[in-house]
Amino acid sequence: MSDGIFLTVIDREGVRHRLEALEGWRAMEVIRDHGLPIKAECGGACACATCHVYVDPDWLGRLHPPTDEEIDMLDQAFEVEENSRLSCQILMAPELDGLTLTLAPGSEPG
Ligand code: FES
Repeated sequence: MSDGIFLTVIDREGVRHRLEALEGWRAMEVIRDHGLPIKAECGGACACATCHVYVDPDWLGRLHPPTDEEIDMLDQAFEVEENSRLSCQILMAPELDGLTLTLAPGSEPG
């Protein structure tokens, strides 16, 4: 039995949520499947930027670097910061247990 992989997500109200994740799932899918508000309009195809999150600085260097595609799409997101990423491009893995993400402006549904 594995101990599980957990993702911490801070919503737009500043509330922290600890979400159980499955290896190989996109962080965006974990957030959406737990019912947190995330627009993720394109469903994970790296074509909308409405799954924009800020990565906790402690974790930034531990993620694989963004692809050119992700960087191009992030250019179209709101309030992009150095720690901005698209959550559909982050694949959950055991080494990411404890990863902390904050939902960014523009990721709210509706
Ligand atoms: S869900 Fe559209 S870019 Fe991530």
